[in-house]
Amino acid sequence: MKLEIDQQRLISEIETLAAFSDAEPPAVTRIVFTPTDLKARAWVIERCEEAGLAVRQDAIGNIFARWKGAEPAAPAVGTGSHIDAIPNAGKYDGVVGVLGGLEAIRGLQRSGFRPRNSIELLVFATEEPTRFGIGCLGSRLLSGTLSAEAATKLRDRGGESVDEVRKRAGLHGNLQDVKLAKGYYKGFVELHIEQGPLLELAQISLGIVKSIAAPASLRISIEGAGGHAGGVLMPDRKDALCAAAELILAVEHVARSSGALDTVATVGVCDVFPGAVNSIPSRVGITLDIRDTDLARRDGAMRTIERASRDIAAKRQVSIRSELLNADAPADCAPEVRGALAESCRQHGFPFLEMVSRAYHDSLFLSRIAPTGMLFIPCRNGYSHRPDEYAAPEDIARGALVLAESLATLSA
Ligand code: GLV
Ligand code: MN
Ligand code: MN
Repeated sequence: MKLEIDQQRLISEIETLAAFSDAEPPAVTRIVFTPTDLKARAWVIERCEEAGLAVRQDAIGNIFARWKGAEPAAPAVGTGSHIDAIPNAGKYDGVVGVLGGLEAIRGLQRSGFRPRNSIELLVFATEEPTRFGIGCLGSRLLSGTLSAEAATKLRDRGGESVDEVRKRAGLHGNLQDVKLAKGYYKGFVELHIEQGPLLELAQISLGIVKSIAAPASLRISIEGAGGHAGGVLMPDRKDALCAAAELILAVEHVARSSGALDTVATVGVCDVFPGAVNSIPSRVGITLDIRDTDLARRDGAMRTIERASRDIAAKRQVSIRSELLNADAPADCAPEVRGALAESCRQHGFPFLEMVSRAYHDSLFLSRIAPTGMLFIPCRNGYSHRPDEYAAPEDIARGALVLAESLATLSA
């Protein structure tokens, strides 16, 4: 089997997909189910059909593109990632795993390989939390980690429900049917940029993920009292934004002093009401994203933040309410998938690093229902979720090659 990756075509497809964006290049903004995202999804579906794959979509918009194997009833071998992108992002996060996965399948087709198990490209819907406040909505539903009832309660910042948004996108099926049966996949592999600097620092171009860190996120509402910026004297204020500021610094302090670099915490959203220059903020909404490779340490940090928030509320006479959006457990990658990836690297003499994924991925949830693994490639300076995110063409093609060989091993 002579397996070759068409690097030029793959890179040109990544560039084409990047043009489906609501931000000026090089930035990419592609929020799930916006008109731009829908056009991008249609373009990806066309590429899959062009490759002879049978395409279906489920009720939340996960796209499945299947290359039928010699034993079509046997569990499939899956690969894929996402194409939605946070505001002001780059062109590689998720996309490398989708278009790299597609090119891996096309490379296998060109090589004359015939899979025993079907090989399926999976484009996960709404991996980024931008629209509905929770990441990996598609894979949470696929794995049964989130119930259909809980998913229907989610709304975007404009107040539209998941059901309204997905139905307008033409997705009319029943959310209950999204969950995959255990055994649907024999194995799953996601190719992704590292989103951190370790591969580049080690000058090693491939990373085989051992485990995926555990993320949790909360929506926090702070309610104080508004009023005239001139009229209300300082001792009489219950400024919600000042309380939020104190809480944000407490979050940073807790993460910095956990005793491990693996604890990271971020407040990435701050909505101020009424948001007028001469009005004391009466209400503030912030989000908290907190992660660790160690579940007990992450949960301990969350308890410390909770205590700090009670103290700040009492001291400033505001109310602080938190709503837990998700608190996921870490996942270990499956030995058989790691083994297939490592074997391909060894055969080519490609050095690889065994590593932890600090970002979360749909693979975290797929791992609940299938043996799952991830392959990382470097990104320049470790940059991700920003417009200057960059992965070198040779690294992308090398990743797609190792992915293709692993899919072949798992489906033979
Ligand atoms: C995924 O995009 C993450 O925030 O880890
Ligand atoms: Mn991302
Ligand atoms: Mn991603």
